[in-house]
Amino acid sequence: SIPAENVQALANETSMNPEMEIPLRYIRPDLDHHQDNINKIIVDEVVPIIDMKRLLDPNLSSQESSKLHYACMEWGFFQVVNHGVDDEVIEKMKVDLEEFFKLPLKEKEVFAPLPGGLQGYGQKLVLNEEKLEWQDMMFLITQPVLARNFRFWPTSPPTFRSTLDKYSKELKSVSMSLFAAIAKNLGLNPQVLHDVFKEQQRMRMNYYPPCPKANQVLGINPHTDAGALTILLQVSDVQGLQIKKNGQWLPVQPLPHALVVNIGDALEIMTNGKYASVEHRVMVNNKKERLSIAAYHSPSFDKIIGPLPEIVQGGKEYYKTMKYEEYMEFHFLAKVEGKNHMDFMKL
Ligand code: SIN
Ligand code: FE2
Repeated sequence: SIPAENVQALANETSMNPEMEIPLRYIRPDLDHHQDNINKIIVDEVVPIIDMKRLLDPNLSSQESSKLHYACMEWGFFQVVNHGVDDEVIEKMKVDLEEFFKLPLKEKEVFAPLPGGLQGYGQKLVLNEEKLEWQDMMFLITQPVLARNFRFWPTSPPTFRSTLDKYSKELKSVSMSLFAAIAKNLGLNPQVLHDVFKEQQRMRMNYYPPCPKANQVLGINPHTDAGALTILLQVSDVQGLQIKKNGQWLPVQPLPHALVVNIGDALEIMTNGKYASVEHRVMVNNKKERLSIAAYHSPSFDKIIGPLPEIVQGGKEYYKTMKYEEYMEFHFLAKVEGKNHMDFMKL
């Protein structure tokens, strides 16, 4: 694997020296065209918004549940409002993360991954010739609590760890409510999803510096998420996330107080394709930085993942059954862009 350079540092250099070209491995000549398409579509399609308070209210939940079921089937993406996460926790999380990324590079690099490791502050591992992403990130295992490795948890700002601890617990509880509602919509015993997804939560905290060639780079390449449910906090009020819908890239607008949720590959497999993971990518801005936090809720590596018998009901299974660990190998080794890797999982 090739070590990628720090993008924040690269962005600083290019902003001080306008003559400097950004390295070719970030440039995607094919992007301008996509961008044109986006500007042309009238954005009359908006990612569905689910009101968690209604979902949990016995008198209102049936209508909201149908909305959720539709969002899972037709979109694979939705925004959740009234999610019950304490505003203060979210605000503190935003501030602490911004503070961390503002630290000098040397101080952040104390938390760099060890050789071969995944956790810590740095860049995504680059396996082959794929294009580089215009972003730095911090990747941490946040649940179960006993699996945390504080070697990689920032100590500055001083409240960072306690803030992340609170945020992680709040998000875990949001994910549990969603899994329960999803199980109900699928006619499953809630315990089925609970058993598979109750433990693991990982977080990827993203920093996208401004880029002078914003229309020609991507913050994150097109991909689907591997786990079951990703809950994303758009820290900055800057648009960047796009999802693929009917062959078009559609922006997900930052909505104050909302969390963006999407279905991952593991849930697609377990639902035998009823709910599908959706390709998405991140554009960057030419003037403003953008931050986000993705919390992945996934099976643990030893869990067996395959179409659930309650859903297949004696019909055709469309996906192989294997250990989540084996599946993750496919996810990483197959071509990293888009959704091609799922072909390996199909029967
Ligand atoms: C992603 O996690 O794939 C998207 C993150 C973002 O919107 O910054
Ligand atoms: Fe993602």
